[in-house]
Formats: sequence, structure tokens, C-alpha cells
Amino acid sequence: MRTQVAIIGAGPSGLLLGALLSKAGIDNVIVEQRSADYVLGRIRAGVLEQVAVDLLDEVGIGARMHAEGLPHDGFDLCFDDRRHRIDLHGLTGKRVMVYGQTEVTRDLMDARRASGRPTVYEAADVGVHGFEGKAPGVRYVKDGARHEIQCDFIAGCDGFHGVCRASVPQDKLALHEKVYPFGWLGLLADVPPVSHELIYVNHPRGFALCSQRSRTRSRYYVQCALDDQVEHWSDDAFWAELKRRLPADTAAQLTTGPSIEKSIAPLRSFVAEPMRFGRLFLAGDAAHIVPPTGAKGLNLAATDVGYLSQSLVDYYQGHEQGIATYSERCLRRIWRAERFSWWMTSLMHRFPDNGSFDHKMQSAELDYLVNSPAAMTALAENYVGLPL
Ligand code: FAD
Ligand code: DHB
Repeated sequence: MRTQVAIIGAGPSGLLLGALLSKAGIDNVIVEQRSADYVLGRIRAGVLEQVAVDLLDEVGIGARMHAEGLPHDGFDLCFDDRRHRIDLHGLTGKRVMVYGQTEVTRDLMDARRASGRPTVYEAADVGVHGFEGKAPGVRYVKDGARHEIQCDFIAGCDGFHGVCRASVPQDKLALHEKVYPFGWLGLLADVPPVSHELIYVNHPRGFALCSQRSRTRSRYYVQCALDDQVEHWSDDAFWAELKRRLPADTAAQLTTGPSIEKSIAPLRSFVAEPMRFGRLFLAGDAAHIVPPTGAKGLNLAATDVGYLSQSLVDYYQGHEQGIATYSERCLRRIWRAERFSWWMTSLMHRFPDNGSFDHKMQSAELDYLVNSPAAMTALAENYVGLPL
């Protein structure tokens, strides 16, 4: 098989890149190691910035998002058992869209199927080669048969554990990493959200987040130990722990119910530099991870592929400047989002090694934040997303 761009990974970054390239008439094939159902079953992000909303509109799949997504004008920060509203719209003129990654992925998959462009699911032993020369290729095994795709470029959209970053000679990569000493235990349930907006909670027992997917589906998280196991958490234990971390009047309004999904995610900050190696580009979680606190991961993935698709369109029109500066342009935005996610994570969580001084610093910063319009604006402008 021959194509212009071989995309590895059918997560949000791979599918969105495929849609953007297809719209520009650039031939592409997506190769994914899992099944479509498996990809759809991963419950992850919930908050989209305006830039991500705009990209989904650009590829013509925004209709369901606008009909079913929930535009949010603010969120609550909660500490010392009190909730303080951050008026995102009042402070920045912008808002965010609450629309699950599962739904974004489903919309992109439906559009891809309708376009007739090839997606190979359940591809085994995926390998990439030749990207440091002029003739890159992708090999994989499907139903026991070996296949090869020859292409002009490879887009590594295969997430943190993917094969693309791992195929780059390690002496050409600079890795920057911080692993946090806790995880998030998440629970999804068909119960109405406790509040119409999100609540981020700093509590002596640990961080908690009240999020949502719709007016009838809630997503909640509690900070847990790194070695905690999801099997050790019954639904009842989860709800009891969440209630302990909420102010009494909020806890009293919480509707509980059976979980649809429960999982533990470790928290990590990670950046691999650069993001281009000859004819291989990395995008999304393949190149960088943010701890989820600032809701930036999916949004960064979307902006990476926005830059990448434009760079490739320019290339096929005879201009190489876009692909030459792809890495540098992405990384500037990525490092600012890394900083914000690290800061918000540090502010809102209990760190096992922290003492009373560190707790006082968190309290003083939270107090400053909700009483200073300047500090609140800095939080709000990062949360809604910095300009491209
Ligand atoms: P992925 O979604 O990881 O997709 C990569 C794909 O590549 C996968 O389908 C994988 O199966 C495939 N793949 C891997 N290896 C191979 C291989 N060798 N060959 C072929 N295919 C391969 N972000 C936000 O913006 N807002 C939020 O509110 C938010 N909340 C989050 C909450 C949690 C609990 C977590 C865990 C993450 C959250 N994120 C959030 C982050 C967001 O989910 C990720 O940043 C996003 O999924 C990145 O998309 P991606 O397509 O780059 O990578
Ligand atoms: C969700 C996840 C986040 O990390 C966040 O900051 C907000 C919402 C969510 O899964 O709904």
C-alpha cells in the first residue's frame, strides 16, 4: 500500500489529523493496534478548549458536540470547606465545552468511516522505519498476514506507550519527566452532577474533582495512593470518600449510584524533544503528558495536529518552512501547558512528603488566588487555553 501520510494511532490526535488531512485532499492511512470498541471504551478527558472546538468544527464534525456538549462559563475551587467560583467568561470572555473524549472519538470515527479512508484496527507488531531518509514505511501484521505501507511521512499519534517515540535513536531525544507520588481514582455513573459546573477540591484527605459528561452522567475523581488498586474500592467506599472531601452542604446534594466505569490513572509530567525526526512527527501523548488537573492533554493533542496538518498542507504546496518549525511551535505551547498543569497539580493535591509549611503555602496561595482579580485572571486564561 502507498499513501502520503501514515498515521500511527486512532486516538483523538490520529483521528483528528486524518480528518484535517483528508479535508485538504492529502491521502492518509491510520494504523491502530487496538479495536475501535477498545479505543471507545477508554474513559478520559472531559473538557475542551475553544481551539479544540474550532478544530472539530473545521473538519465538519461539530454538530453533535454543539447539540449535546455543555458550554461552561466557570468552575469552583473548593478549600477549607468553602467553594469559590472562578468566572472564566467574566475574566477572559471565553468558555470551555464539557464534551467527553469518548464522544469526540466516536464523532471522528463515524466521519472517518463515512469518508471511506482506510483505518486498520487490531494491527499487531506495528513498526516504523526509514524516516531518517526519503522513503519511510510502516509494517504491521493483520490477521496473521504481514503488510507494508510506503509513505512520504509518518505521524506518531500513538500515545505515551507507542512505538514511534521508542523507534527514535535515544541519543536524539531529550526527555523531561516528573512522576507524582499519587494517582486519580475515577468513577463514571449515570447520576445527575452534584453541581452544574466542575468543582476542584483541595482537602486534607486529598484532591477531589466533581466533573460531568452530561446533565445525567457524572464523572468524579479522588486522589489515591500510587499503589492503590481499583479492586479495593467498592462503589460505596468511593462515594463515602468523595463525600468526606466535599463541604457538608455539597455532600448532602450528591446523588450516588452504581458505577459504569472505575479506574486509576497515575499522574505524570513528561516532554520529549524535539517532535520531528526527518519524516517522522510526534503528536499528542506520544510526545508529552500533563497531569490531568488542568484538563490540557486532549487540547494539546488537538493543537499539535492542527499545526501538523497545516505544515503538511504547506509542504504539498511547495513550502517546507511549516514542517521545519513544527516542533518548535508545538513545544512553546506545550511547555506553557506543562507549567500550568504542574502548578495546578501542586496547588490542589496532598503530597506525602509535605509538612505543615507546605500546607500553609497552599492555603496562602489559594487565599490569594480567590481574592486577587489578577491571580484569578491568570488561572482563568490558562484554563480556557492560551492563544495559538
Ligand atoms: P491516546 O488517546 O493515548 O491514543 C493513542 C492511540 O495509539 C491509542 O488508541 C493506542 O491504542 C494507539 N497505539 C499505541 N501504540 C500503538 C502502536 N504500537 N501501534 C498502533 N497504535 C498504537 N485531557 C484534556 O484535554 N482534558 C481533560 O479533561 C482530560 N482529562 C483526563 C483524565 C484522565 C483520567 C486521563 C488519563 C487523561 C485525561 N486527559 C485530559 C488527557 C487525554 O485523555 C489525552 O491527552 C489524550 O487521550 C491524548 O490523545 P492521543 O490521541 O495523543 O493519545
Ligand atoms: C475531567 C478531567 C480533568 O482532568 C479535568 O481537569 C476536568 C475534567 C473529566 O474527566 O471530566
